[in-house]
Amino acid sequence: MSQAESVDRLIAGELQAHFACATIGRQIVVLEQTASTNDAILQVVTANSNAGLVLFAEHQTAGRGRRGNRWESAAGKGLWFSILLRPGIQVNDSGRLTIWAMESICDIIRTQFALEPAIKLPNDVLLCGRKVAGVLVEMRAQQKAPHVAIVGIGINVNHSVEDFPPELQNRAISLAMALHRPVDRQQLAVAILRNLNRTYREKFVTEVGTLQGQKS
Ligand code: BTN
Repeated sequence: MSQAESVDRLIAGELQAHFACATIGRQIVVLEQTASTNDAILQVVTANSNAGLVLFAEHQTAGRGRRGNRWESAAGKGLWFSILLRPGIQVNDSGRLTIWAMESICDIIRTQFALEPAIKLPNDVLLCGRKVAGVLVEMRAQQKAPHVAIVGIGINVNHSVEDFPPELQNRAISLAMALHRPVDRQQLAVAILRNLNRTYREKFVTEVGTLQGQKS
């Protein structure tokens, strides 16, 4: 592994240190490889699982997009992660979570990099007319607990054009391609999780001030 590769690793403990008192990120796991981070969370979720678990993978072998599409997840090039939430919404309202996550990604791209992203419904974030990020929300109804929501987020960060398969090369883009420089994925992960935490509280909080679906 080259020096450049060795410094650009996601470190769960360092990430988690930023979110000790937060909802999203109070538990962070980084896997070297999994099929899909959404599936990996769904496999471990139980009726007692706390909201806020974030699971990253450096590489997904079977990343999924909308309508069963494949999501390409080049190893170490992007942020591929899923968040376990209990937002206190109905399963057929999951679009609210997709919009929330896409807006948060756009906020960060704008504020951190002075780029101008656009949302393309239902679940794409575009830069220069090409896809830079996607969101896949999956919900599981629960009998005696708030429904579980898995918010899966994929962001193309340090790809060069050859890192995308040929059929995506004129439709996909990474932040590094737009900026003409590499991006620190660990810093970007902290920025996006911070923004998601703040905006989750704003958008999914009850009038009595408790987070919907969060166990005390
Ligand atoms: C789409 O554009 O259709 C949604 C893509 C969502 C991709 C992310 S990557 C992390 C999480 N795990 C998956 O298998 N999919 C989502």
